[in-house]
This record gives sequence, structure tokens and C-alpha cells, in this order.
Amino acid sequence: MSILVCGGAGYIGAHVVRLLLQRGERVVVVDDLSTGSADRIGEAALVRLDVASDEAPTVLANTMVDEDVTAVIHFAARKQVGESVERPMWYYQQNIGGLANVLAAMNEAGVDQMIFSSSAAVYGMPPVETVAEDTECHPINPYGETKLIGEWMMADCQRAWDLKWIGLRYFNVAGAGWADLADDAVMNLVPMLLDRLERGESAKIFGDDYDTPDGTCIRDYIHVLDLAEAHVAALDVLSEGRQPEHHTYNVGTGLGTSVREIVDGLRRVIGWDFPVEVLGRRAGDPPKLIGDPLSIGVDLGWKANRGVDEILESAWEGWQAGPRRFDPPTVR
Ligand SMILES: NC(=O)c1ccc[n+]([C@@H]2O[C@H](COP(=O)([O-])OP(=O)(O)OC[C@H]3O[C@@H](n4cnc5c(N)ncnc54)[C@H](O)[C@@H]3O)[C@@H](O)[C@H]2O)c1
Repeated sequence: MSILVCGGAGYIGAHVVRLLLQRGERVVVVDDLSTGSADRIGEAALVRLDVASDEAPTVLANTMVDEDVTAVIHFAARKQVGESVERPMWYYQQNIGGLANVLAAMNEAGVDQMIFSSSAAVYGMPPVETVAEDTECHPINPYGETKLIGEWMMADCQRAWDLKWIGLRYFNVAGAGWADLADDAVMNLVPMLLDRLERGESAKIFGDDYDTPDGTCIRDYIHVLDLAEAHVAALDVLSEGRQPEHHTYNVGTGLGTSVREIVDGLRRVIGWDFPVEVLGRRAGDPPKLIGDPLSIGVDLGWKANRGVDEILESAWEGWQAGPRRFDPPTVR
């Protein structure tokens, strides 16, 4: 028996793969290595494949049968909001086409358990600061739309052939469970700050005139290892043959941290009061976005155990273990 992890060579997927391997599961990773890396997956088997390609349904179905796959965890997707606005059809082809291929292969191979990487981006600009799963979804970019459509596709497969599925809506993922699995893409706040500092530039804050206590945007930061553990909890529920009451769950902490607090926290962790520049607001940034974690606690027995300090310490340790490490001026 094995678990198939699509996109398992990426930042979040590799954390889940490592947790599964640590508890003795057999894991098969399907990944095109476009943003992931084979050295992140340890002794898991690797099938190098673009899940959105024409050959994918057949290769996936054969792999599922040959490897005796019982469940799929699907991370493989393009995830840059700005790029999704510029290349919407590519995002649909990759994220929707890829998921359709995976689901078709599961149906073909008789695999009926699926865990899907969804996102807080499905909520768009919600009218409330703390979102629950029943908050209306109005994504404001093609990336968020592909995540919401992905949830609809699984609901349709549930009706058609009894797919058991859980969609996890991640809030702001950061940190590293192991230094070698740190986020090496520069797309989220913490890596963006470290990227600037390594280049000798000041850190940037986009907008400090929001209606929040310190004027900067507030987000719900979730440690990637907590998030990885949420996948294992979801997998365990489905493998017991239980379909929890809800299908989609926020993976958040219920707590908000401002951009300014992240900057100050990183200064403490690094031991350097690095320079910060405040720029104008970015389009489409809600002032405050926090995920209500009540349902996932009740239904999956999961809660976040790590706070912002652990997120920042582990992110810094991971950055310093990588190729772009730098010495802050105070210790130079
Ligand atoms: N990182 C975040 O903050 C965040 C937040 C919300 C949701 N998500 C979702 O979580 C998932 C994983 O994100 P991540 O941060 O680990 O990203 P990542 O880019 O590090 O990982 C994605 C992995 O999927 C692979 N991949 C992408 N498209 C593929 C394709 N067509 N065929 C085969 N492999 C493909 C990549 O090579 C990579 O290994 C994505 O679905 C993303 O949308 C991430």
C-alpha cells in the first residue's frame, strides 16, 4: 500500500512526505520538478511527470495500480497570483487540467481518497475579518478561482463515484519543519523580507495606512509543520473510512499577526534592526484575513501547535542553511 503525493517535491509537499516516511508509510511522489526538487523527498519513489500533460491520466492510473495506492494528496499547482492574472488559461490548464487528470486516474484505478491543497484565496476579499468555511467564496484572481473550482470538481466526483475528499484551505504558510525543506521561492512575506536583506536592500512593507492597530495588514501565519500535520490528520480520517461532515477546512490558527509584527519579530530573531521602507498598498490585499480553525479542530482533531516565533526562527535557520545565507552587519 502506498500514498501518492502529487507535487511532493515542493515546499509543503516535501514536509508531508517526510512526516509520512517517518511513520513508515510507503510514498510515491509525482512531480515535474518545475519548482520542486528531487533531493527533498528522501527515499520516496519519484515519477517525473507533468500532471496536466496528455500522457498523465494513463501514467497516473498505471502508477496507482502498480504501487497499490490507497490515497492521493494533491499539491501540484501553479501558485503565483500575479502570474495567474497574466496567464489565466495556463493556470486553468495546469491547475484544473492537472486535477482533472488525477481524478480521472483515481476513478480508473479505483482509488477513492483525496486530500487537496486549497487556499484562503478562495475567499477573495471577504466582508468579515475572521473567515469560517461557510463564509461566501468570491475569489478575485484566476489562482483563487482554480482552487474553488478544484473543490467543486471533487464534490462532483463524490456524487458520481463516491470519492472521499478533504480540501484544506491554507492561510499564510511559513517557516520550516527541517532546515533543508525551507521555502526557497520568494513569493511569501518572510522569504521576500530575507531576499531583500540578502541583496543588501531594505525590507518593504506595502501599506501602513490600513484600518488595523499598526496600520499594516494582518494575516494568519501557519507553521508549515503544523500544516503538514493537518494533512496527516486528514489522511487518517479518510483511511478509517470516515468522510467528515464538512469537506473543506480552514488551516489557520485563528490569530492575526501584522506585517509590522513580522518585521519586528524577524529583527529580533536575526539580531539586526534592518532598514524598512514603507511603500503604497498593493491591489487586492484585504486589511485583515484570519482563518477560523474551529471545524478542523472538531472534525479532524487538529490544531496548530507552533507560534510566530517558531515560524520566524525556523525560516531564518532554513535560509541560513541554503545557498543565499548572509551575515547580518552586527555579527559580520
Ligand atoms: N505556499 C503557500 O503559502 C500556499 C498557500 C495556499 C495554498 N498553497 C497551495 O499548496 C500547494 C503547494 O504549494 P507549495 O508552496 O509547496 O508550492 P511549490 O511550488 O513549492 O510546490 C508545488 C510542487 O508541485 C510541482 N508541480 C507544479 N505543477 C505541476 C504539474 N503540472 N505537474 C507535476 N508537478 C507539478 C512543483 O514542481 C512543486 O514540486 C499548491 O497547490 C499551492 O497552490 C500554497
